[in-house]
Parts: sequence; C-alpha cells; structure tokens
Amino acid sequence: MNDITPELFRKASGNWTTGVSVVTTSDVDGKPYGLTMNAVTSLSLNPPLFLICVDNRSDTLEPIRRSGVFCINVLAAAQQNVSNAFAKKGDDKFGGVSYERGVTGAPLLTGRLMAVECHVTAYHEAGDHKIFVGEVKNIDVDPDETAQPLLYYRGRYAALAP
Ligand SMILES: Cc1cc2nc3c(=O)[nH]c(=O)nc-3n(C[C@H](O)[C@H](O)[C@H](O)COP(=O)(O)O)c2cc1C
Repeated sequence: MNDITPELFRKASGNWTTGVSVVTTSDVDGKPYGLTMNAVTSLSLNPPLFLICVDNRSDTLEPIRRSGVFCINVLAAAQQNVSNAFAKKGDDKFGGVSYERGVTGAPLLTGRLMAVECHVTAYHEAGDHKIFVGEVKNIDVDPDETAQPLLYYRGRYAALAP
C-alpha cells in the first residue's frame, strides 16, 4: 500500500481520460446555473439513469437540489472556451453563451455534442462530493457523424487521434 496523498489521488484522477460536460440547472426562480464536470456517468438502461458527482463547494449544488433537475451538456472539441468559462465561479457564466431551455427548464448550450436532461431520483453523500442520480427525460444528440468531443487527460484538453 502506498500513501494516498492528495497529489497522488489527483494524478490518478488525471489519468482517467474523460469527456467534458457543462451540467446546468434552472433554479426554482428560473435562474440558470452550471459548472464544468467530468464526473458524469451513464448508469442504467432500465430505467434510464445518469449520475453526476458535484463538489460540496459548488454553487450549482443547491440549485440542483432545489429544482430537482439537471442537464448534462456534453461539449464538442471546439468548446474549450465554454469549459473554461463554466470552470470558474461567478454570476455571469451565461452572459457569454447562447442557450435554449429544455423540457426540464435547464439550459441547453448551443454547439454541444449532446444534451441529456434528467429529473433527480436519488441523492447520496460521498466524501467531499454529492452524487445525484437522475432519470433521463430527454436526449438530444448532434446528428453530425463527424462531430468531435472535447476530451480531458492529465489536466489538459485533448482530441481524438486523427
Ligand atoms: C475538466 C474539468 C472537470 C471538472 N469536473 C468537476 C466535477 O466532476 N465535479 C465538480 O464538482 N467540479 C468539477 N470541476 C470543477 C468545477 O467546474 C469548478 O469548481 C467550478 O468553479 C464550480 O462552479 P460553481 O461553484 O459555480 O458550481 C471540473 C473542472 C474542470 C476544468
């Protein structure tokens, strides 16, 4: 066994190559919230479930809890700037992006590869994060077969090999 330091844990997490998503919600007063996430997983086919893992310090956590809805906006390769904008704190994140409201009311970002809208069905405490399980209510996939995802590996953005 080795000593699981924060540095080693971060290194291990960085070697888990992922896509990048912006998870959005619409608070009970309709105000949009969102954050960049890679702790996003498809979970179950029957019923259709996804899960997301949100840091306890996130300002988007309580709006998701209150509204009971979230939308996973899977980003396209060209959306690094969107990822960076939603990986910061602030009240003005939606000022620089265009979006439409989905069936849940959550924002669907323009230019996304895919949007998965969910109703929260379960909520778990897990260390310094909370796990939200959501039942899928609507899926919208970019029909362009050549569309490319934004990837994240070892703390940097990456692209699929040509
Ligand atoms: C590639 C990438 C992936 C991230 N994944 C997560 C994640 O899965 N869960 C999380 O809580 N924060 C994640 N973050 C950090 C949040 O985006 C960041 O803390 C953000 O400022 C939170 O915003 P909020 O407090 O307005 O919700 C990630 C950041 C980046 C750049």
